[in-house]
Amino acid sequence: PFIALAISVVLLPPCSMPKARSRRWVGTLDQFSFPLGQGRIEKVLIANRGEIACRVMRTAKKMGVRSVAVYSDADRHSMHVAMADEAYNIGPAASQQSYLSMEKVLEVAKRSGSHAVHPGYGFLSENTEFAEACKQEGIIFIGPPSSAIRDMGIKSTSKYIMSAAGVPIIEGYHGDDQSDEKLQAEAVRIGYPVMIKAVRGGGGKGMRISHTAEDFHEQLESARREARKSFNDDVMLVEKFVEDPRHVEVQVFGDQHGNAVYLFERDCSVQRRHQKIIEEAPGPGISEEVRWKLGEAAVRAAKAVNYVGAGTVEFIMDAQHNFYFMEMNTRLQVEHPVSEMITGTDLVEWQLRVAAGERLPLLQDEIELMGHSFEARIYAEDPNNDFLPGAGPLLHLSTPPADEYTRIETGVREGDEVSAHYDPMIAKLVVWGEDRSAALKKLRYGLRQYNIVGLNTNIDFLLSLSGHPEFEAGNVTTSFIPQHYEQLFPKPIPPSRATLCQAALGLLLRERASTQTFRDKSNGEEQQQAFHLSSGRGKTSQPVFFLSAEVEVTVTYNSDGTYSMEIGGEMFQVSGEVETEGQTSFLHCSVNGVKSRPKLVILDNTVHLFSMEGSAEVSVPVPKFLAGVSTGAQGGAVAPMTGTIEKVLVKAGDTVQMGDALMVMNAMKMEHTIRAPKAGVIKKVFFKEGSQANRHAALVEFEEAAEEE
Ligand SMILES: *[C@@H]1O[C@H](CO)[C@@H](O)[C@H](O)[C@H]1NC(C)=O
Repeated sequence: PFIALAISVVLLPPCSMPKARSRRWVGTLDQFSFPLGQGRIEKVLIANRGEIACRVMRTAKKMGVRSVAVYSDADRHSMHVAMADEAYNIGPAASQQSYLSMEKVLEVAKRSGSHAVHPGYGFLSENTEFAEACKQEGIIFIGPPSSAIRDMGIKSTSKYIMSAAGVPIIEGYHGDDQSDEKLQAEAVRIGYPVMIKAVRGGGGKGMRISHTAEDFHEQLESARREARKSFNDDVMLVEKFVEDPRHVEVQVFGDQHGNAVYLFERDCSVQRRHQKIIEEAPGPGISEEVRWKLGEAAVRAAKAVNYVGAGTVEFIMDAQHNFYFMEMNTRLQVEHPVSEMITGTDLVEWQLRVAAGERLPLLQDEIELMGHSFEARIYAEDPNNDFLPGAGPLLHLSTPPADEYTRIETGVREGDEVSAHYDPMIAKLVVWGEDRSAALKKLRYGLRQYNIVGLNTNIDFLLSLSGHPEFEAGNVTTSFIPQHYEQLFPKPIPPSRATLCQAALGLLLRERASTQTFRDKSNGEEQQQAFHLSSGRGKTSQPVFFLSAEVEVTVTYNSDGTYSMEIGGEMFQVSGEVETEGQTSFLHCSVNGVKSRPKLVILDNTVHLFSMEGSAEVSVPVPKFLAGVSTGAQGGAVAPMTGTIEKVLVKAGDTVQMGDALMVMNAMKMEHTIRAPKAGVIKKVFFKEGSQANRHAALVEFEEAAEEE
C-alpha cells in the first residue's frame, strides 16, 4: 500500500500548472481502452476549402492524423491544397460539380484510404444523404448521426422535438399546407411582423421579413426563389418576428456514450444581410443564471436528438433576456474559435476524438469560462454598396502577428484571388482578452494591422463598428447596423494635406530608388517637380472613391536631402525614407516636424498608406480613356457584378417607376434585385432568364424621355 500511495502522489500534476488556457486533453484508461475498429482515424479527408479546411488540417497535423484535401479547378493553387498531405482534383469551379458532389468526394475518400471525412461547414456538412453514404462505405462522417441532421434540418420537426424536450420555442406555422392563402392566413394569426423562412434554410438564405400584408407575397416569392436555388426545396415556415432581438447561440458537444456538455454562449447579434459579421463569447451582459439556463436548455436540445459531435443551438433573446429556440446547426460553426478561446479547448480535436469513439475530453464542471473573445469576419465586400460581395486579387496582404491571444483563420495568402465562385470571406480575426474591453482593444489593434490592397474589404467598417459607443457598451441587437447606420458610415473625408505630402514622398522615394541619377544631377542645387494627385479615400473614412479635384503638390528638393512641398499655397517641410521589414515597407517620415511611420504600398498608380489612425489612398490620375467603363451611361440599369439572371420582371414597352424591381440576379451565392434607376419606359431588355451577365453589362435600356428634350 505504501508503494501505491507513493506512485499516486508522483502522478499528480504540479500545483503550479497553468490554468485551463493552455489546458491539454488528458486521456483516462477508460478512453484509451475503448475498442478501436470503428474508431481508427489515421487519415482524414476534408470535404471543404478555404479557411475551414486549413483550420481542420492544423489540428489533424497536431494530432498526427494525415490530411487529404479535395479541390476544384479554381482552387488548384490554393492554401488548403498546399497544406494537405495529399490533394485530389474533384472538378470544375462551380461547387455543384465539385465540393457539392457526394460521388466525387466519396470516390476520393475511398481512393485515398481515408478513415474519416470532415465536412467543415457549408457544402455537405448538413447533408443527411452524404452522412448516410459515408456510413455505408465504412467511412466515419465527422458529425452527428444522419438522423440528428435530418431532424434538425427540418425546422418544423426540430421545433416539435425541442418543444417536447422543454426547450422554449417561438410561435409560428410549420405546417404542410404551403398555399399562399394558408401562409398568409397564418401570418395574420401570428401577427405582423413575421419572418418567412425556408424550412431547410440556413445562413440567412431563403429568409425574408414581411412587415405588412401588402408586402407578404413579394417577400414569400423572393424567399422561395432563393430557397429553391440554395437548397432545392422551397417549403416555407412563418413565425413571429421578434423586433430587435439578440442572436445568442450555445456551443454544445455530445459523444457516442450519451454524454453532452455546453461550452457557453456566443453573441452573434451584429449582422448584415442576415449574416454574422462580428461574434463574441461570452454574451455581454448575460448573468450567470441566464448563462446556466441557456446551457442547460441547449444540452436538453442536444440530448433530445442523441446528438454526437459539435453542434450549435441558436436562440433569439429579447430585451428581458428571455430566449427562444431558433434552430440547431449540426456542424462546427464559422465562429467556433471564440468558444475555444474562452474555454481553452480545440473543438476540432474533440470532433476527431469523439468520432473515433472516445468520451468527451471534459465533463461539464471541468469546463471553465475564462476571459472574453471576439471574432471579426473580414470579407471581400463593399459596405457602402449594401455589402455587395466582391472578388479579386489580394495584391497586398499583411496581417497582425499571430500569437496565443490573436488567431488568424484564413485560407488565402498574398497573391491569391478571392474567387467569385465561393463565399467571399477572406479571414477571421480572433482575439482573446482578460475581459471584454481588453479583448475589444486587441480586436481593434489587430484590425488596423490587417491591410489589404486589391479589392474592397469591410475592414474599415469593422473598425467603425467595433469602435461604436453602443458596441463598446455591449448593447448589441440584430438591428445594430441599421440603427446606427449614420454613425457607422461617416461621410468620407478627403486625405489631409499632410497625408498628400506622405503620398508624394512615397512616390518620389520610389522614383529615386529606380533611377540612380535622379538626385545626383541637381548637384546640390534646388530643383522642383510637380505631382498631380487625386485623392481616393481619406483617413478613417470608408472606402468610397469620390471624385475630388486633382491636387497639385509642388516639391522642391533641398540641398540637405529634405523636401519642401507646397499645396494650395501652404508649405510643408518633409523628410523621410522607406524602411523594409520582410515583405512590408514602411514610410518613416516627418511632415512639419510630426513624425509617423505608416505602412506603404504602391501599386500601379496608387499609394496606399496604413497606420493606426486609419488608411488613405492617393492616386496619380490615369487618363480618362484608360479608366474603367462608366456604369449606366445611357441611364439604363447595369449589372453590379457578374452573375446569373434569375428572373426578368419587365419587358419592352413597360412603364416603370424609379426603384421598381427590373430583374433578379444571382451572384456570389446571393440574390440581388436590380431596380430602375429612374422612371420611364423600357425600350429593350438585354438578357433572358438563366443567362449570364458580366459585371457592368447593360441589362435594360430606357426609351429617351420626352421631357428631357
Ligand atoms: C441600446 O441601444 C438602443 C438603440 O440605439 C437604445 O435605444 C437603448 O437606449 C440602448 N440601451 C442602453 C441600455 O443603453
